[in-house]
Amino acid sequence: MTASVLIVDDDHAILSVLEMRLEAMGCGVTAVRDPRDALGYLKERTFDLALVDLMMPEMDGMELMEAAHQIQPRLPVLIMTAHGTIDNAVAAMKRGAFDYLSKPFRTEELTTRVNRALAERRLTRDMERFRAMGRLLASTGAPETILRAIIEAALEATDAQGAALLLAENGVLRPTAHRGPWSEPPAAFTQVAEETMSALSPLARASDLNGVLVGAPLLVDERPVGALVIGLPQHYRVTDEDLSVLALFAAQAAVSVKTANDLSRLRSGALTALGRMATQVAHEIKNPLGGLKLYALHLERRLQRQGDPEGRELAQKIANAVDHLSDTVTDITAYGRPVRLSREPVPFNRFLDDCLALVQDRIDAKQARVVRQYDSSLPDAMVDPRELKKALLNFLVNALDAIQPHGELHVGTQRHEGAVEVTVRDNGEGMTPEVLARIFEPFFTTKEKGTGLGMSIAKGVVELHGGQLTLESTPGKGTTVRVTLPLETAR
Ligand SMILES: Nc1ncnc2c1ncn2[C@@H]1O[C@H](COP(=O)(O)OP(=O)(O)OP(=O)(O)O)[C@@H](O)[C@H]1O
Ligand SMILES: [Mg+2]
Repeated sequence: MTASVLIVDDDHAILSVLEMRLEAMGCGVTAVRDPRDALGYLKERTFDLALVDLMMPEMDGMELMEAAHQIQPRLPVLIMTAHGTIDNAVAAMKRGAFDYLSKPFRTEELTTRVNRALAERRLTRDMERFRAMGRLLASTGAPETILRAIIEAALEATDAQGAALLLAENGVLRPTAHRGPWSEPPAAFTQVAEETMSALSPLARASDLNGVLVGAPLLVDERPVGALVIGLPQHYRVTDEDLSVLALFAAQAAVSVKTANDLSRLRSGALTALGRMATQVAHEIKNPLGGLKLYALHLERRLQRQGDPEGRELAQKIANAVDHLSDTVTDITAYGRPVRLSREPVPFNRFLDDCLALVQDRIDAKQARVVRQYDSSLPDAMVDPRELKKALLNFLVNALDAIQPHGELHVGTQRHEGAVEVTVRDNGEGMTPEVLARIFEPFFTTKEKGTGLGMSIAKGVVELHGGQLTLESTPGKGTTVRVTLPLETAR
């Protein structure tokens, strides 16, 4: 790879000598006498090194160096000074010069310093790429997080002004992650993505509007599933190295897409099998439960007749526990089956109080502080209280599970235009983005005794009501569950 070097010196003779020597060293050279021309070139393409004369009439070398660093912050600059006082050199290095050269040059010194600067430049670039790659490989998380990290790393490791990762979904390419001076990547990015996907290899295309676009395909099992495209400044000369760096990032993205695909296939297969088994088990449990309930009721009546109130209370507790078990079993057998809502006018604040009463034992066990903030102007809402109770109980239980002893549980209602908003907030352990990303997945749980169906059922219930369920959570701070339901006020 040829290194591109910019030389700026107002002395014509020195300029041509330097140009000759550096070309002899195998560098691509751009030599200019006017610093303003130099700035023009710097805006157009990247250089690996600049040699700048300190004393120039229009703009001195230091000024030019600082302006150059505004445009290309990582450009190494060698300051040349004929008036070789060491003070000048030290000042230049303090202000960001990589090294200095005193005129007249000795060929050997010139070669050594230029080579050192170029090696350092290569090393810095490589280090940046390694660091970006390392961060990427260390990041675990939801596929979207990884894809976003790949975009960031690609931007960091190249001089790109924008980058987009496009994935094919049902035959259409969509920008899954992107960053750049636009709200959506321009159409040219999609065109380059399509081209690189059919070429099955990285390529570069110049466009008047968008600079130079470089794309690399994401290959999963040798088939293109998407592409990574970056936008470089106009007139940027793309090297083979640029193409291979982009291919490296695209390969990383392909791995993460493949992992996500495999995992979701695995999960859906496992889920189907688990679902079948759960339904069977639930079915087996249902009949004996009916018998148990009957025996408990008989026992309760008998103990009442015998005047044993304590025994009767125990029998009642058994009956209640059996009821709860039956409900759970019904939920499992009904899971996935469409629910039909039976709506009725429900005074919402009272309904919430009823739900809270059902979890009173857990509130007591945690000695939780319950804060109610109800909107008293709330009219009755047309909802299915039986179904909605399942959702709310799960939010309350989850919140109570998440808090520390003496933690806070906040339950609120608020009337909005045509809707009621219910919030359940806790100051508990909160959730990481990974948990949050999977929370609606059936059977996903972080609890030893959880079934992991709570949130997925709750979401179904809320959506069946035409409502919306949103979550905000910060690890270590707490979680807010927000449900918005259309009022459909009772007549
Ligand atoms: N308020 C919360 N604070 C912290 N984590 C929560 C909260 N709500 C849900 N979670 C996390 O989401 C997971 C899934 O919740 P979900 O209610 O679906 O299942 P579960 O509570 O584990 O089991 P169950 O089916 O008994 O409800 C929980 O295991 C927990 O990790
Ligand atoms: Mg739960």
